[in-house]
Amino acid sequence: MNDEAQSPTGEHVVGSVAAVRAGKATKAKIGARKIAVFACGDDIVATNGQCPHAGGPLHDGEVEGTILTCPWHGWTYDLRTGACEEDPDLTLEIYPVRIDGDDILVKI
Ligand code: FES
Repeated sequence: MNDEAQSPTGEHVVGSVAAVRAGKATKAKIGARKIAVFACGDDIVATNGQCPHAGGPLHDGEVEGTILTCPWHGWTYDLRTGACEEDPDLTLEIYPVRIDGDDILVKI
């Protein structure tokens, strides 16, 4: 797990581009906040690491296309928008990502 490696710009390194593109979702922490990082097509997407339904560990979820499925109860989230198919009132937080070499950087 990456834990609070912070760049001079206030961004936090949350993972390795090569590892995530190889299909290995990763997790990190920024302060007390858990982050999950996925490859989604050509994009790298960073989200809240805890499922908005009941806190499931989203880095252990499955990604198919742009849809992330939570490992606990199978609810699904669109990684482009955060929209939850099962409950329209829930939205998965998605954080802006910047790539620097092999580093995936997030600023929250
Ligand atoms: S905790 Fe994710 S679907 Fe229930």
